[in-house]
Amino acid sequence: MVKILILILTLSFTFNAHAAESNKGPMPKHEWSFNGITGTFDRAALQRGFKVYREVCAGCHSMKLLYYRDLLDIGFSEAQVKAIAAEYDVLDGPNDEGEMFERPARPADRFVNPYLNDNEARANNNGAYPPDLSVITKARRYGEDYIYNLLMGYEEAPEGVEVGNGMYYNKWMDGNQIAMPAPILDGSVDYDDGTDNNAAQLSEDVVTFLKWSAEPELEVRKNLGIKVILFFLVLGTIVYLAKNRLWREVH
Ligand code: HEC
Repeated sequence: MVKILILILTLSFTFNAHAAESNKGPMPKHEWSFNGITGTFDRAALQRGFKVYREVCAGCHSMKLLYYRDLLDIGFSEAQVKAIAAEYDVLDGPNDEGEMFERPARPADRFVNPYLNDNEARANNNGAYPPDLSVITKARRYGEDYIYNLLMGYEEAPEGVEVGNGMYYNKWMDGNQIAMPAPILDGSVDYDDGTDNNAAQLSEDVVTFLKWSAEPELEVRKNLGIKVILFFLVLGTIVYLAKNRLWREVH
């Protein structure tokens, strides 16, 4: 029985490794503050990541599942959230005259979409659709590691590889061609907290923000996990001691 299990496990690992290695090599793993059972989100990194999203990615990508008030979660104050929301306009209405009107967004509004509809999004991106980023770390294999590598994976196309019109060579994209121009370069975004704004740091921060968006409950979940493990350790010890005591006389 044990042998069969070991065989199945080894086989599945080998197959997985093969799938990952086809044409691009294994997906490099990045060190994330939220990895491991005690992992947490670094609030400063989340706020910087939001800045990168807002100043770079939000030009093309929506994050429809987020509300401005969710930003309270990553350490912004109510006044800051109000001010951030107010920088965007949303379509509201109809008013008493039956007309739709624009007003500044409020904390209870969803993140404003860069395009009016999907067709406009495609028309502006050479026919390709920039996917919504709300849960993108869950929607792609290798999640945050893939997205980090993708952002850092723009290269000269190797000799003999023809890159299509309006396409860019990227080591990690399926088929190695992507319709998104390299969004992050050294210094693309200025940080106010003195953190170095090289491309690797900007990418790490924005991916941390995307991970939080997809799994805002991550810290609570991990915290609960530790408590459950401790609980069972304590319970297990008590049961074990009780058992020894109860059976002491019987031999
Ligand atoms: C100029 C517009 C533009 C900007 C700015 C932009 N993107 Fe994109 N992005 C696109 C388009 C278009 C696609 C679809 C590419 C394709 O399907 O070939 C895309 C695709 C993606 C994908 C999905 C790749 C896949 O596996 O399908 C991710 C993840 C992504 N972008 C993240 C980001 C992040 C993070 C930023 C900000 C740092 C950003 N993008 C900035 C246009 C943009």
